[in-house]
Amino acid sequence: MNFDKKFDRYEENAHIQKVVARELINLVPEKKYNTIFEIGAGTGILTRNIIKKIECKGLTVNDKYFESEKYIKDLPSVEFIGGDIEKLNIKKSDLIISSSVFQWIEDKDKLFEKISTTSDTLVFSIYIKENLMEISDHFGISLKYLDMKELKTLLTLYFKNVVGYNKEFKLAFDTPMEGLKHLKNTGVTGIGQTNSQKIKSYLSKELTYKVGYFICEK
Ligand SMILES: C[S@@+](CC[C@H](N)C(=O)[O-])C[C@H]1O[C@@H](n2cnc3c(N)ncnc32)[C@H](O)[C@@H]1O
Repeated sequence: MNFDKKFDRYEENAHIQKVVARELINLVPEKKYNTIFEIGAGTGILTRNIIKKIECKGLTVNDKYFESEKYIKDLPSVEFIGGDIEKLNIKKSDLIISSSVFQWIEDKDKLFEKISTTSDTLVFSIYIKENLMEISDHFGISLKYLDMKELKTLLTLYFKNVVGYNKEFKLAFDTPMEGLKHLKNTGVTGIGQTNSQKIKSYLSKELTYKVGYFICEK
């Protein structure tokens, strides 16, 4: 799977990601944050929640795809930094926040370590083991999702207080094809490359999202 760099259809299909971002913003510890850094802003779903809910002097947002800037540039006082967060330096910030992104990170250990050297507080959501199980069961395609225990073990190497919990969301569709289209529009690709027989024999009208939420403080 790969995140499709075309964001056009993302916003209207990102039902779960919107719910997750709204929940995440309420988990941010109540403190004064002068500087905030968001990883993987996409079309700005979490960014708009940050602006609405948290007062800060400087908000910097990043996304691997420079196209994201188009959706961010009209938001007030937001600086955009394009590029792969695994390769970029992260500037010192009071809060690092990210929603629905870290499942794409290859070396999570290294990223958590880098984040811990630049901020005392990390709040994020991530898709975890058994996410979209209907797709992995039928097509054998999946990201390398970690489970809550694996994530907590990694995070506690770098943060003293780590609180995490998980939730399951189910989306129902009129037809199996509608579900596959929905996934394509939210950036999950790769299924189109499998043979058409495999697509025809996909019968699930439901998709299961498994989400982990973490609040990490040093
Ligand atoms: C599912 S979208 C989430 C977007 C937004 N945070 C939201 O809640 O709707 C995942 C985003 O992560 C970005 N992304 C994936 N890997 C990344 C990386 N290594 N560095 C920076 N951004 C990345 C993608 O380009 C995409 O915009």
